[in-house]
Amino acid sequence: MISKLSHSLRSVAPALTRAVHSGTRPASTAASKLKMDQPLTAEEVYAREEKYGAHNYHPLPVALEKGKGLYVWDVEGNRYYDFLSAYSAVNQGHCHPKIIAALNAQASRLTLTSRAFYNDILGAYEQYITTLFGYDKVLPMNTGVEGGETACKLARKWAYTVKGVPKNQAKIIFANGNFWGRTMAAISSSTDPSSYEDFGPFMPGFGLIPYNDIPALEKALQDPNVAAFMVEPIQGEAGVVVLFIADEVQTGLARTGRRLAVDHEEVRPDIVILGKALSGGVYPVSAVLCDDEVMLTIKPGEHGSTYGGNPLACGVAMAALEVLEEEKLAENAEKMGQLLRSELSKLPKEIVPIVRGKGLLNAIVIKETKGMGVSDVESHTIVVKETKGMGVSDVESLGC
Ligand SMILES: Cc1ncc(COP(=O)(O)O)c(C=O)c1O
Repeated sequence: MISKLSHSLRSVAPALTRAVHSGTRPASTAASKLKMDQPLTAEEVYAREEKYGAHNYHPLPVALEKGKGLYVWDVEGNRYYDFLSAYSAVNQGHCHPKIIAALNAQASRLTLTSRAFYNDILGAYEQYITTLFGYDKVLPMNTGVEGGETACKLARKWAYTVKGVPKNQAKIIFANGNFWGRTMAAISSSTDPSSYEDFGPFMPGFGLIPYNDIPALEKALQDPNVAAFMVEPIQGEAGVVVLFIADEVQTGLARTGRRLAVDHEEVRPDIVILGKALSGGVYPVSAVLCDDEVMLTIKPGEHGSTYGGNPLACGVAMAALEVLEEEKLAENAEKMGQLLRSELSKLPKEIVPIVRGKGLLNAIVIKETKGMGVSDVESHTIVVKETKGMGVSDVESLGC
């Protein structure tokens, strides 16, 4: 597949490289504008991104141009079943009409005021989301990683001002294999070399324990300077006087068959981080929820973001949350997930020995065998292309 892609790139690259190697750099010409307006082939789409965009992603060779509900379409008109849902950001389905209507309505009324002023929708959103999740307060941000950064800052502030940790000694414990984004703080707690290698020096004050290792957690929590334990749920165990931060950016908002993944364990984290599906995939919206004891440790001017809690985000997020509730998407994910796993369990055990997950956040373990490896099935686990003898309706019967 990769070699097919690089071959395709080589065949289109000459046309796209001309401008750069011609010695001058016209900012914009009629010809290049025209090219942008014309429909491109998939190969041209790959080549253009390859040439003009940073190579910080490695997409599968599918060039999408449209999405609706469960489906996405590529530039050649092929319809795919989107199993990935933008890593849980599109839990409500692509271009959900209610969320798009909220976006349009708010976009033509008021989009950004900055937090230098009050506006008529921020409070409504704050009231709605805190009531829905049962927390005193929300701190709105934009991306998931900013939510994580906010949670870490709240934990440190709480440690110094409430718990009494000596200045600059606070520690936050993470689990090995954690992923919460790409900022300097996020990679400072990462155990994945592709995330942190050559980006040092790193932020101090982060500790690591093995995932799902309660004795290791208990030992780590004996350190009186520990402010918090931050983890992606489906495990969840807080100790004595530390904060339990649940990173529900990916697991939250109906994906795992509950509103939050921690609801499976009936655990109430001290701090919850939400993102991704908080806007149903139409706009970057994240939020940190906690009670007054923690939230009010941060004072005016100590944290924020120009776009955090902007009116457009508030309108979109409220609609996205309403869709989850009105359409009972957690219940649906629970039901469909059971069906999906039971069907996946019928795959040959010598190739797929393990199927696991909760709701519609699932994984299969693929055993590498001669002539069949992860890369052979990779593209099919992410998007399913309709082929002869196998269509969306066949996949639909799997219930995903
Ligand atoms: C669990 C978790 N936390 C945080 C993030 C970061 O979110 P964002 O990419 O919106 O910054 C991600 C992104 O994949 C994630 O999976």
